Amino acid sequence: MQTLDFLKQMDQQLPAYYRQLSDKEMMDKIAWIKEELGPKLYIPGHHYQKDEVIQFADDTGDSLQLARLAKQNKEATYIVFCGVHFMAETADMLTTDDQIVILPDMKAGCSMADMANMEQTRHCWNELQQLFGDTIIPLTYVNSTAEIKAFVGKNDGATVTSSNAKEMVRWAFTQKKRILFLPDQHLGRNTAFDLNIPLDAMAVWDPINNQLNRKGKLEDVQVILWKGHCSVHENFTTNNITHLREKEPDRKIIVHPECKWEVVQQSDYAGSTKYIIETIHAARSGSKWAIGTEMNLVKRLMKQYPDKDIISLNPHMCPCLTMNRIDLAHLLWSLESLKQGKIINRIQVDSTISKFANKALEKMLTTV
Ligand code: 13P
Ligand code: SF4
Repeated sequence: MQTLDFLKQMDQQLPAYYRQLSDKEMMDKIAWIKEELGPKLYIPGHHYQKDEVIQFADDTGDSLQLARLAKQNKEATYIVFCGVHFMAETADMLTTDDQIVILPDMKAGCSMADMANMEQTRHCWNELQQLFGDTIIPLTYVNSTAEIKAFVGKNDGATVTSSNAKEMVRWAFTQKKRILFLPDQHLGRNTAFDLNIPLDAMAVWDPINNQLNRKGKLEDVQVILWKGHCSVHENFTTNNITHLREKEPDRKIIVHPECKWEVVQQSDYAGSTKYIIETIHAARSGSKWAIGTEMNLVKRLMKQYPDKDIISLNPHMCPCLTMNRIDLAHLLWSLESLKQGKIINRIQVDSTISKFANKALEKMLTTV
């Protein structure tokens, strides 16, 4: 999409009418449109979405599952993606040209994805080529813009998700001696450490100051981590863990690998949203858990497993604000517009970008 079109889309405001409707009215209308459109409409919902939205999802999943499901679905004309911008972009790139992907609120972005732009990435790549020569393969977390994915695809790299990062990093080392991992330093560090790469062999690229920070020797660097993070998962701290261990040593701690390395090290378990859900599901009744991930998911697990004692690792945690932008009103607005033959908030990745971004996505989908 051209920048101007994108800005116009961003400007689209929810009409006041939708703010006057009660939840019940909105739910009835959404249910009715869903029935009317039948299989022409597909609503995938990420695990971090609110319950009011998740109740209408045809499928729920983590980033990897949703990418696969979007690719498999050949029946739907409209894919109304309940998640954030990079997920809808991925769905658009993995579906056919006549399938239309819609994000109910264009402001549902991801602050982590915004931490790496093309100018910064090109600059970083050039510097790294000068320092290390042709020894680096880029990997990007799917939580990145389509442009960054395209850059990675062009340079023979791949995307990763929190569910398959370990396999993808392993694969990347069969290709080149070094990895540039964008844009989440924590997922990159946690994954590489899990694969026995010492912290001293990891350097951090700071895109604001354009510098490579490292503790070990330059020639020993194996992983270059982009200095980005998730503003939600950074709020889980080792203090939270110390406090909890003192108070309740029998409570197990499970966190998402977007949390800092120290937090992951001190936790009992770490893994993607899918892994967290499966672990809690399999846990024995009466077991006690503190979860370090987005609050909508933690609250859902509390409701789903009343026989297990579940709390958030950080008692003052807030939900991801951008994920939370998708609500009943925005979902109804996008669906009613469809019914009226009007497409709003369409996510359409430029074909020159999607060509290479798809290469990176396909590499991931065929490797794991
Ligand atoms: P999952 O890949 O575990 O779904 O988490 C991704 C995420 O942070 C969504 O923003
Ligand atoms: Fe982005 Fe973090 Fe929100 Fe996920 S939880 S969408 S990584 S800001």
